[in-house]
Amino acid sequence: MANAAVTVMLMLIMAVVAETTEGAQSSSTQPKWAKKLKTRKKTTSETVTNLQFYFHDTVSGKNPSAVRVAQAPETEKSLTLFGALLMADDPLTETPDPKSKLVGRAQGMYGSSGQQEFGLTMAMCFAFCDGMYNGSSISIFGKNSAMNPVREMPVVAGTGVFRLARGYAIAKTHWFNTMGDAIVGYNVTLIH
Ligand SMILES: *[C@@H]1O[C@H](CO)[C@@H](O)[C@H](O)[C@H]1NC(C)=O
Ligand SMILES: *[C@@H]1O[C@H](CO)[C@@H](O)[C@H](O)[C@H]1NC(C)=O
Repeated sequence: MANAAVTVMLMLIMAVVAETTEGAQSSSTQPKWAKKLKTRKKTTSETVTNLQFYFHDTVSGKNPSAVRVAQAPETEKSLTLFGALLMADDPLTETPDPKSKLVGRAQGMYGSSGQQEFGLTMAMCFAFCDGMYNGSSISIFGKNSAMNPVREMPVVAGTGVFRLARGYAIAKTHWFNTMGDAIVGYNVTLIH
């Protein structure tokens, strides 16, 4: 018994020493304000899921899926519509065709947050309604440089099947018009 306790203690001390040594490493290519502390070892098995679907954002017409709910006094004078805030309830479908199978809805807010160049900050919940993902959701929060053909946004959390999820979404504009309506392809990689 006593021997076992000593062994456990020794292992703990060695683990602490190992972590401290790893923590001291730093790379010359990193700037002064950043430091890689250590590489975290995985202790549990995780699932990696890839989702591909299309996001339909309609701001024009009689039945817009995204509406402007707030703006700054200067918004209309700004070339980037800085300060405009929209609330969206956008359908997510299987293919770019708006009439294709509904797989979920993107609900939440996005606002124009760039003064020099057009860019959005997205705070949205993508709630799915198809098959085993019905009732599960992911939360996307990040910068969407919507004028870039491809952009990346972080997935910060999830519910249901995607509980504790983290990951990233690659968004590519599939179609848009001058009114600001757009169909965007999403390719999401999740660890959960
Ligand atoms: C999703 O789940 C809800 C609630 O359990 C149910 O009413 C609905 O029919 C389901 N939808 C699909 C497409 O399976
Ligand atoms: C989707 O993203 C994954 C992971 O980043 C990548 O391997 C795959 O090629 C992408 N698919 C498409 C159609 O862009």
